[in-house]
Amino acid sequence: MRAAALGLALRALWALALSSLSNTLAVNNSGRWWGIINVASSTNLLTDSKNVQLVLDPSLQLLSRKQRKLIRQNPGILHSVSSGLQTAIKECKWQFRNRRWNCPTSQGPNIFGKIVNRGCRETAFIFAITSAGVTHSVARSCSEGSIESCTCDYRRRGPGGPDWHWGGCSDNIDFGRLFGREFVDSSEKGRDLRFLMNLHNNEAGRMTVFSEMRQECKCHGMSGSCTVRTCWMRLPTFRAVGDVLKDRFDGASRVIYGNKGSNRASRVELHHLEPENPAHKPPSPHDLVYFEKSPNFCTYSGKTGTAGTAGRFCNSSSPGLDGCELLCCGRGYRTRTQRVTERCNCTFHWCCHVSCLNCTNTQVLHECL
Ligand SMILES: *[C@@H]1O[C@H](CO)[C@@H](O)[C@H](O)[C@H]1NC(C)=O
Ligand SMILES: *[C@@H]1O[C@H](CO)[C@@H](O)[C@H](O)[C@H]1NC(C)=O
Ligand SMILES: *[C@@H]1O[C@H](CO)[C@@H](O)[C@H](O)[C@H]1NC(C)=O
Ligand SMILES: *[C@@H]1O[C@H](CO)[C@@H](O)[C@H](O)[C@H]1NC(C)=O
Repeated sequence: MRAAALGLALRALWALALSSLSNTLAVNNSGRWWGIINVASSTNLLTDSKNVQLVLDPSLQLLSRKQRKLIRQNPGILHSVSSGLQTAIKECKWQFRNRRWNCPTSQGPNIFGKIVNRGCRETAFIFAITSAGVTHSVARSCSEGSIESCTCDYRRRGPGGPDWHWGGCSDNIDFGRLFGREFVDSSEKGRDLRFLMNLHNNEAGRMTVFSEMRQECKCHGMSGSCTVRTCWMRLPTFRAVGDVLKDRFDGASRVIYGNKGSNRASRVELHHLEPENPAHKPPSPHDLVYFEKSPNFCTYSGKTGTAGTAGRFCNSSSPGLDGCELLCCGRGYRTRTQRVTERCNCTFHWCCHVSCLNCTNTQVLHECL
């Protein structure tokens, strides 16, 4: 009886969630799964009679039928996906903190804004880093045991080298990549240049996580003599992934839609990406690709969804992108001083407390006009 009532309540909630979202849904599916960003901290969780967790967060309606099925088939994965996305966004903001485009995000289902519908380098980076975030987080969650359908990668077992062998718990990068291909890529539809670009950059993100994996070992033997070592594969830090992808952003390839219509034998070759400049090499699977110039991100534009750099802090002594000249796009800047109080000259007292002095410094800030 109570179960039936609960079922009814759930269905009512779903309906509510559906109707409240239908107005805000963008026409494009591209990257729509990003809307589940806050599901990990969601309080809309219920546990049904079979102890299956039901998530009633309305943002789940942003997922396709296939994506929701993948979530159901892999209990525990939703939180992993959502926290991987949060890590990716933090990394994006860090990598771009000194640039005109600083990876701005907003609340709501369209978190990266209109840049997602373009085909510029920044678009490429967003797809690559969020895809990498999912693969990284899922691969780690598997080895931590927080997803029911996967475990550590135990296939690396047995002999390795002369004085070491495979063993222990490797992060499950294969599961992370496969899940990413199924889940993340299924948001992209079509056959056009934008579709090929987004899929290429999604895969480049996953591949970066894979190629930055490192071997880690532990020593065994008499009193730590290290006569035998056991080794496993460990994921890179996400900062390492962000650094590599930022380099790929700087060296991204501009592409055009290639249509080898004459080659009937290999159907996959019919739609593909070609370098815009025929003298360049075709992009490798590791490269980020884009097909249109970036806007300059200098001024506010509702049409392109750029906030502009007015109000951003710049570095008056830097000749680089974070310098006032470039960051403020030549508009100039205002300077103000700010007093900041910090803890300083801390001393440790046995045992166990730390006492500090309060130091007040004057900070000079430059703010773009
Ligand atoms: C969907 O994408 C196209 C580009 O393919 C863009 O012109 C359009 O504004 C987008 N629509 C929405 C609602 O974001
Ligand atoms: C400003 O730029 C200079 C030169 O590039 C650099 O040495 C300094 O650390 C920068 N200051 C800040 C606060 O980033
Ligand atoms: C903190 O310590 C440094 C030397 O260690 C000293 O020069 C400075 O005056 C101290 N600051 C304060 C606020 O006492
Ligand atoms: C430092 O500042 C904090 C709060 O502003 C205050 O509670 C503390 O007593 C101060 N410490 C000293 C050593 O003045």
